Amino acid sequence: MISLLPAAKSLFEPDYTSELRQRGMKPLLQSLLVMAWMVEARDPYSGGHLWRVSQYCRLLAESLGLNKYEVARITLGGFLHDLGKISVPDSILKKPGRLNDDEYETIMNHPEIGARILIGHPLASLVKNAILHHHERPDGAGYPFGLDEGNLSIDSRIVSICDAFDAMTSTRPYRHSLPLDQALKDIKLNLHTQFDGNFGHLFIELAHSGRMNTILGHTDQGIPIQNCLTCGPTIVVRRSQKSGELTYCPNCAAEAIIEKNNSRISIHPTGRKGSVKSLQPKVDMDLIGEYVATSAAALVIA
Ligand SMILES: [Fe+2]
Repeated sequence: MISLLPAAKSLFEPDYTSELRQRGMKPLLQSLLVMAWMVEARDPYSGGHLWRVSQYCRLLAESLGLNKYEVARITLGGFLHDLGKISVPDSILKKPGRLNDDEYETIMNHPEIGARILIGHPLASLVKNAILHHHERPDGAGYPFGLDEGNLSIDSRIVSICDAFDAMTSTRPYRHSLPLDQALKDIKLNLHTQFDGNFGHLFIELAHSGRMNTILGHTDQGIPIQNCLTCGPTIVVRRSQKSGELTYCPNCAAEAIIEKNNSRISIHPTGRKGSVKSLQPKVDMDLIGEYVATSAAALVIA
């Protein structure tokens, strides 16, 4: 009887331990997401990539029936997977042509660098698989370790599909984006070799169902990708920005004015160039705050 008391008590009193852990989780999560955002901001063509990859990851993980903790962990992994690209020089990141062998080797270091950046971080174990293994493949031909199918985590298999799909459907300095049908055909062709067969099938079904339409071609919920009309790369319009505010191309510094008309968002060049200060990357703290709010509780449960 006496031994049951502490357990019974915990049913009726607030779980202060969990609350405290959740409170500690929020700034840790926020700092990681801000770091990932700043890494992405170095590449003028990748604006919105992390948001889209993490949203595809969330959708696929939920559709697989994974629990809230797993969905939150994989969504976070989708946002942080390319953290190691901080180590890739601008000359490679922004190269308009094909990479040579040395440049490709440099790129191939980014999963291990990403994992190394997080050594000792309290949340490292949550995202280690997504960061370190997102370029591994079921046929063992991936990098950095050439792991085979049996050694790939759910996280890395999901992030790998979502990352590749977003790369295919986004414009890069060396090629235009592929149409949706072509990208899905490419995924289908590479099931069981580059991509997990079961997860890839489900991903293709989800895309055909239209459930990705609010993610594809967007940089945030309800915000379609904007492109610089002078040189092409992505200009990310933040959700807090209002009509009439100015924005700048991260590549050529062309200035544009934002127009938000009901649900329609567009940008219009002013013909001017931005100053060095206006080109400083600005983190979308509203978007990150929403991630933190939705993920922190789920990640504390485990
Ligand atoms: Fe990557």
